[in-house]
Parts: sequence; structure tokens; C-alpha cells
Amino acid sequence: MNKYLAVVALLSSCSAIFLTEYTDCGSHGIIHSIQLEPCNQEPCIIHKGVSYTTHINFTAKEHSDKLSNVCHGIIAGAPIPFAVYPLNACGNGVKCPLEPGDAEIYTATVTCPTNVSTMRLAGKWEVVDQNGLDLICFVVGLKIVD
Ligand SMILES: *[C@@H]1O[C@H](CO)[C@@H](O)[C@H](O)[C@H]1NC(C)=O
Ligand SMILES: *[C@@H]1O[C@H](CO)[C@@H](O)[C@H](O)[C@H]1NC(C)=O
Repeated sequence: MNKYLAVVALLSSCSAIFLTEYTDCGSHGIIHSIQLEPCNQEPCIIHKGVSYTTHINFTAKEHSDKLSNVCHGIIAGAPIPFAVYPLNACGNGVKCPLEPGDAEIYTATVTCPTNVSTMRLAGKWEVVDQNGLDLICFVVGLKIVD
């Protein structure tokens, strides 16, 4: 019942905002904007078991052959992995290999785990290249609710 109500609430407030309250944590590319949907205020309210889509407008500064999505919730200083789909960050609007100056809009979806506590936490999103360097890295405050 709770889950059903949450879905109804989401459908009636389905929207995306450009995040303004994020911190760049060492991106090698340039982040122009980050959208998260559904979200209509900051910090974004994240419902357990619900999927969220991010659209990142960025420009590459380096050559990348392969890119992977990595997402963590930082809880009491410890990173807890959140599953991202797809894991591969190439495709979905990003043409690999990426060359310096390439401007892309990249899209991926992450589902909030159902076994996290209801709390505020920091979400850390990374797009990592074949050498383990962050093309994109940002941290954003999130509020997890049931
Ligand atoms: C991406 O950001 C750049 C730089 O701000 C802007 O010129 C471009 O229009 C944006 N692309 C889209 C699709 O929003
Ligand atoms: C949630 O479950 C996943 C696997 O099902 C596990 O890897 C993760 O550590 C769990 N998280 C917490 C906060 O218990």
C-alpha cells in the first residue's frame, strides 16, 4: 500500500529539475548541468525501490575508450553501492571513444535500494574511464523516504 501510494504521488509530481546544490568531486570533464527526475526540489526526495534518471550535459577534456557508471550512497562516511543501469556509460547518448571537446548528454538510471534507512545522505555519482579516472564525479544531498 505504501509503495502504491508512493507511485501515485510520483506520477502526480513527475518532473525534473536542474541540480544546483551539487559538489564536483574531481571531474576530469566539464559538467554543464545535471538533471534528476523525478525530483522537484532540493534535496531531491528519493523513494526506496523507485528508479531515478539523471541527464548530465558535459564536455570531455580527455580521450576515453570505456566508461562505467558508479553510484554510492555515503552513509556515516562509508560508501554503500547503489545499482546503476546500465553499468556501461557508453551508448545512451554518449558515443565512445570520447575525444577532448566532445559535448554529450549522458543518461543513466539508478534504483534506490529498499534496504537503506530513511535519512538524509550524500549520493556520489561517478563515470569512470578505462584508467580508473573520473570523467564525471559529483556529490549531491538526497533525502531517502519510504
Ligand atoms: C549543454 O550545455 C552547453 C553549455 O552550457 C549548452 O550550450 C548546450 O545547449 C547544452 N545542451 C543541451 C542539450 O542542453
Ligand atoms: C543492501 O543489500 C545489498 C545486496 O542485496 C547489499 O550489498 C548492501 O550492503 C545492503 N545495504 C545495507 C545498508 O544493508
